[in-house]
Amino acid sequence: MTIQADALLKASRDELQAAQLERMKWSLAHAYENVPFYRQSFDAAGVHPSELKSLSDLAKFPFTVKQDLRDNYPFGMFAVPRENVARLHASSGTTGKPTVVGYTLNDISTWADVVARSIRAAGGKAGDMVHIAYGYGLFTGGLGAHYGAERCGCTVVPMSGGATDKQVQLIQDFKPEIIMVTPSYMLALADGFERLGIDPSSTSLKIGIHGAEPWTAEMRQEIEARFGIDAMDIYGLSEVMGPGVGQEFRETKDGPTLWEDHFYPEIIDPETGEVLPDGEEGELVFTSLTKEALPIIRYRTRDLTRLLPGTASTMRRMDRIRGRSDDMMIIRGVNVFPTQIEDLICQDTRLSPHYFCEINRQGRMDTLTVVTEAAPNAADSDSMAAAALSLQKKIKDLIGVSTKIDLREPGGVPRSEGKAKRVVDNRNN
Ligand code: DLL
Repeated sequence: MTIQADALLKASRDELQAAQLERMKWSLAHAYENVPFYRQSFDAAGVHPSELKSLSDLAKFPFTVKQDLRDNYPFGMFAVPRENVARLHASSGTTGKPTVVGYTLNDISTWADVVARSIRAAGGKAGDMVHIAYGYGLFTGGLGAHYGAERCGCTVVPMSGGATDKQVQLIQDFKPEIIMVTPSYMLALADGFERLGIDPSSTSLKIGIHGAEPWTAEMRQEIEARFGIDAMDIYGLSEVMGPGVGQEFRETKDGPTLWEDHFYPEIIDPETGEVLPDGEEGELVFTSLTKEALPIIRYRTRDLTRLLPGTASTMRRMDRIRGRSDDMMIIRGVNVFPTQIEDLICQDTRLSPHYFCEINRQGRMDTLTVVTEAAPNAADSDSMAAAALSLQKKIKDLIGVSTKIDLREPGGVPRSEGKAKRVVDNRNN
């Protein structure tokens, strides 16, 4: 299929949906004809790609889950001969084999287009310098951002994650306008600047493009205030492409616009699998419309969010992700997401926004400890005791769960250099 990069960006909803239907027919047939896994799963469900007559017919087709990719490790989900796969990426996951994803040269080009489009939506333009601090390597963040920034016509600094002092030095010396990095590492960079006696708001940076992990509105405010920038949300996942499945526009900052001309979204009830109407919260599911090497049909992301009408574009938005269903902690019957705790930590100026949640089992009781740290200006023992008590009370009152608070001195919570690990579950150790 030949695709013109941004042909549908200004299309009406009707034009977009017509193109989506054409592309979806192609993608289902491509998957069915070339991937034994899809042939078996469609046959088992009694559906054939020729039965897709409208976009809503997609609901008849079976879901794909991460385990399906693991079961077909390493290359069993590919729809093109291995020789035609130009690039591999993989996500490690916590257990078992990594999930392997592959791209043809056309796929890499599409990916560069959607990331370039994302950078423009965030306010970037040709000629800007982009400092990339997402990790390079098997993780899709670094290289995905890199090819997109090049496609956008930017000057790219392929810094990767880690080596905080070096990051600070290069930002000071090269003077980039844009930084692409996880929100948690962005905050670690703010600390890095301050440690070296530099005010982070004095840098050349104007735009931050942050994603790869859930972050709250409060975290955005903190990043924007400390760096004096506009911070926008970028969403994506390896199985569907990598970064750039959706991007928030700078002028609206109201959740990522999904690049629906390439990735078709649905929201389902995670219990029943039923498709939910736009506006209702559930699990986000994607079907790729143009991918060659790894067509992905109704992939269950585990990400919980809502689909919302377009604002800056005719394409739909998603709400900020509340959390992943696998990150949801159930503490004595109460469902708790790390982002809810993050909200409360970020609201208190005596606390710094570095934190993680630790679950332990005492006898038959699960206990939740929130590990966070004091802000540098509130690190005396009286303020710390008061801040810990107040956080504990707010979590009890607003979320409904009793916690222990382990409030550490400034610098006491290990910093993430990529995706922050927000939940440490010690129950099975
Ligand atoms: O994290 C791709 C990426 C890289 C996105 C850089 C944005 C920036 P994976 O490692 O496969 O891919 O992890 C995908 O990360 O299902 C979400 O749970 C989470 N995630 C990604 N972006 C966001 C975001 C990359 N903006 C998983 N907000 C996804 C919340 C996000 N969660």
